[in-house]
Amino acid sequence: MPTACSTRSPARRSAEPIAAAALAVLTAAAAMPARADGLIAYRIVDAAIPVSLTGQPGDATRGRAIVANRQIGLCVLCHSGPFPELRFHSDLAPDLTGIGSRMSEGQLRLRVVDASHANPSTIMPSYYRIDGLTRVTPALRGKPLLDAGQIEDVVAYLKTLRE
Ligand code: HEC
Repeated sequence: MPTACSTRSPARRSAEPIAAAALAVLTAAAAMPARADGLIAYRIVDAAIPVSLTGQPGDATRGRAIVANRQIGLCVLCHSGPFPELRFHSDLAPDLTGIGSRMSEGQLRLRVVDASHANPSTIMPSYYRIDGLTRVTPALRGKPLLDAGQIEDVVAYLKTLRE
């Protein structure tokens, strides 16, 4: 008599993704208390930020668009990399080709969030930081250069740059 089972199991199965999604939202909310400045709090462990700022993996395609864009990411003002469509490559900073093999995801995240952590006198902007910055144009005061979702997209893209 399989009737009882066969009617109940599809219902249970369809509830699982919803429960999983709810759990993911709750876990993400618990992991990321907002700070007084409105930015998501993060923890630095061994010169890395191991946990996604948004609690989700970023989107590498969107990340590439940010990195290769001269207005949003600005990365290519200083870095060269695997961007054949860009005609002028800068060599102010290390080439990003293969960076996903040289740095862990957490190291990449910290570098983009707060480059000054590794090098206090770096010329690289700290993309997810609003305190302690000098030379910020008034229009950008109080806002990070990239929001948490954009940071994760950039990290997802940098991770794909493997040699
Ligand atoms: C104004 C110049 C500048 C901009 C803009 C810039 N960087 Fe950098 N970046 C540097 C410099 C210089 C270094 C070398 C280390 C240092 O001095 O901090 C560096 C280091 C790095 C590193 C470590 C590289 C290594 O081989 O150790 C990564 C990863 C990185 N940048 C990613 C990015 C990304 C992604 C962006 C854009 C979101 C970006 N950078 C924007 C100047 C810049």
